[in-house]
Amino acid sequence: MIVAFILYVRLFTNPLSQIVQAATSLQSAAAAGQRVFEFLEEDELSDEAGKSVALRPDTVCDNVEFCHVSFGYNPSKLVIRDFSAYAKAGQKVAIVGPTGAGKTTLVNLLMRFYELNGDEIRIDGVSIADMPREAVHDLFCMVFQDTWLFEDTIRENIVYGKEGVTDEQVFAACRAVGLDHFIRTLPEGYHTILNDRANLSAGQKQLLTIARAMIENASLLILDEATSSVDARTEALVQAAMDRLTKGRTFFVIAHRLSTIKNADLILVMKDGDIIENGNHEELLSKNGFYAQLYNSQFDIVFNFLYFQSLISAYAVSIESLFRRNGVFILVILSNVELYNASG
Ligand SMILES: Nc1ncnc2c1ncn2[C@@H]1O[C@H](COP(=O)(O)OP(=O)(O)OP(=O)(O)O)[C@@H](O)[C@H]1O
Ligand SMILES: [Mg+2]
Repeated sequence: MIVAFILYVRLFTNPLSQIVQAATSLQSAAAAGQRVFEFLEEDELSDEAGKSVALRPDTVCDNVEFCHVSFGYNPSKLVIRDFSAYAKAGQKVAIVGPTGAGKTTLVNLLMRFYELNGDEIRIDGVSIADMPREAVHDLFCMVFQDTWLFEDTIRENIVYGKEGVTDEQVFAACRAVGLDHFIRTLPEGYHTILNDRANLSAGQKQLLTIARAMIENASLLILDEATSSVDARTEALVQAAMDRLTKGRTFFVIAHRLSTIKNADLILVMKDGDIIENGNHEELLSKNGFYAQLYNSQFDIVFNFLYFQSLISAYAVSIESLFRRNGVFILVILSNVELYNASG
């Protein structure tokens, strides 16, 4: 009797769970369908067959000019407001500002990933809207905030389809970003396939994309938070290598760690889509405005840390005798000292 009852209950619940499964599949089909139709409904890119103005990458001088640029992803909400700036050929231009200020949006506009309505960005006096999109992209080399690697060997990820790149050039780029030694210690070296198993740390991925940019060697270079996951010492080495590589070329760099952009020729301080201050490091510090606040706040952190560190060190000696057998506690303090040494 009980066995029969349980069998009937099973017969009753099985179809119910099948209905629930079908409902879930229908929901994911509806969501996927919506995305397919969104893609099909997107506006086509404008025809650029008539545009023939193209600056030859080897002849451009790289004067970059933003003329009263305003832009919003959504027309009702402007992200960039009346932005004007002039970067002379060969300058290192740093763009700094709080999160969401519009820094990445600005370089997206410079590379013509989005169209402007009426306002102009000019390179050597030629509006980028008058050049075919591919010609604009050829002038730039950009390292994005999000790293992007594909499933192939490390070498292929660095060379990225460019023809005539020698092994020595690849090694030199990796040496410049401090990755050469690490790659050589991998079993397959430069021929290691990058996939889920042979994964790299976030910082190593960033360094790899910078090595890729060094190989590409375009006339204008943009680094957008390209070293945000890299430790401070490696970041300083990479910046020095980039400065050598980009000597005489226009170089845009976006960084939150202000110590790395101190030597920029022009620092544009952005807030809410507008430049609120510009000048070089000393000029901006002497203004004692927003940049000085940003810069000092980074030092406040170090200062607070030092203060905290000295407090711990003072107590450590007396506490150590209490916790002499507690190896973990002592290890924590030692690793803090290491941290401090590395950042100092
Ligand atoms: N694709 C997008 N669609 C709509 N709004 C966007 C898009 N990308 C960015 N925004 C908005 O534009 C503003 C500026 O974003 P942006 O990425 O330029 O900031 P950011 O200065 O680069 O910040 P961070 O320092 O965090 O990288 C933000 O308020 C963001 O919400
Ligand atoms: Mg950004």
